[in-house]
Amino acid sequence: MKIIMLGAPGAGKGTQAKKIAAKYQIPHISTGDIFRANIKNGTELGMKAKAFMDAGGLVPDEITIGMLLDRIQEADCAKGCVLDGFPRTIPQAESLTKALKDMGESIDYAVNVDVPDESIIRRMSGRRACLACGSTYHIVYNVPKTEGVCDVCGQQLVLRDDDKPETVKKRLDVYHEQTQPLIDYYKKTGVLAEVDGTMDMEEVFQAIVRILGA
Ligand code: AP5
Ligand code: MG
Ligand code: ZN
Repeated sequence: MKIIMLGAPGAGKGTQAKKIAAKYQIPHISTGDIFRANIKNGTELGMKAKAFMDAGGLVPDEITIGMLLDRIQEADCAKGCVLDGFPRTIPQAESLTKALKDMGESIDYAVNVDVPDESIIRRMSGRRACLACGSTYHIVYNVPKTEGVCDVCGQQLVLRDDDKPETVKKRLDVYHEQTQPLIDYYKKTGVLAEVDGTMDMEEVFQAIVRILGA
């Protein structure tokens, strides 16, 4: 099963993608997590991506598309995958459609997690992230067992550099301009499914499971 998570920054794509990956036993592939891991490890890719990310903009398609298409051809994706944060532009979506077609495959579901802009800023300022394993928490809605420490791997949690309110506003603008058109793109191909992302995390997940099937 090949699934795409669509939604504004902070809509809960990562939160839900992790639950989907665990339930359906498919890898969770987040381009944002891949970039952050590269920044943390000081790779060349990370250095290229960092400036764009910190400014709230998108990493150029030339860097992002090749990286993602390589990733989905790895052996663990044979039974499917859940893509979180890709595609984010029409050229990315078109490249993905073409690459899958060449492999004799296609996207099964594009799940749009819908959350209004007002709720987004509140969520982002409370988010805490683990840069080591990609887990995310919220200081009110999803509290770690020990304050400031990742439940999964024990590393220190941080406020992401791009979660400052000014940068979140910029990311929302970029989302509306470049990523929101993908909702129509996937509506036209008949794979779009919409869920209300303002419900609590477990209710959002149950709505997604009803779409994907048990
Ligand atoms: P990326 O890491 O993908 O960031 P994003 O899309 O902005 O999304 P977020 O990770 O911020 O939010 P999310 O929807 O995953 O929400 P989460 O589950 O954490 O990308 C970062 C940057 O990398 C981009 O800005 C860009 O520069 C670059 N990049 C990445 N992919 C790219 C691409 N394809 N092309 C070009 N550039 C790319 O939830 C948010 C918070 O809310 C958490 O604290 C969570 O606990 C809480 N929460 C979640 N669900 C609920 C709920 N139902 N109720 C209450 N709280 C909730
Ligand atoms: Mg995320
Ligand atoms: Zn961790």
